[in-house]
Amino acid sequence: MKEFSGKSARVTIGAWLMVAAGAALSQTSASPAGASDARVLEKLARERNCMTCHATDRRLIAPSYRDIARRYAGQAGAANDIARSIENGSHGKWGSIPMPASPQVAPDEAMRLARWILDMAR
Ligand code: HEC
Repeated sequence: MKEFSGKSARVTIGAWLMVAAGAALSQTSASPAGASDARVLEKLARERNCMTCHATDRRLIAPSYRDIARRYAGQAGAANDIARSIENGSHGKWGSIPMPASPQVAPDEAMRLARWILDMAR
């Protein structure tokens, strides 16, 4: 009898875990727009060659996106400023290596990429 109740407790916990896992899964599929946007923008950054020089969390030849986000966190107009840097290039703000202009990036894309990068401060 003791043995049996132990088993049924395990079964109950197992069933509960399945429900919990199901809930977690359904939350992922109904993920907030922000999360899927981030994936789309990461793909865009890859397609526009940004990831050749930049990474999210570590410095390559260019500063990491998180460092950029932290430097500009809370500054009014930051999205505009860095969108301009993305389009026109930048030099002397982070070191001696300049960033070339990115004529392949449309202005609205530069703005979306800028917001995506600034979001990484959190
Ligand atoms: C050839 C390498 C290279 C590529 C490609 C590149 N960057 Fe950069 N990026 C740099 C370097 C180097 C810096 C630092 C420039 C400086 O010191 O002002 C930089 C700086 C930046 C900054 C900070 C600008 C500022 O005003 O502080 C942002 C934002 C940025 N890059 C985004 C991008 C995005 C988005 C792309 C793709 C469209 C991209 N970069 C492509 C090398 C690159």
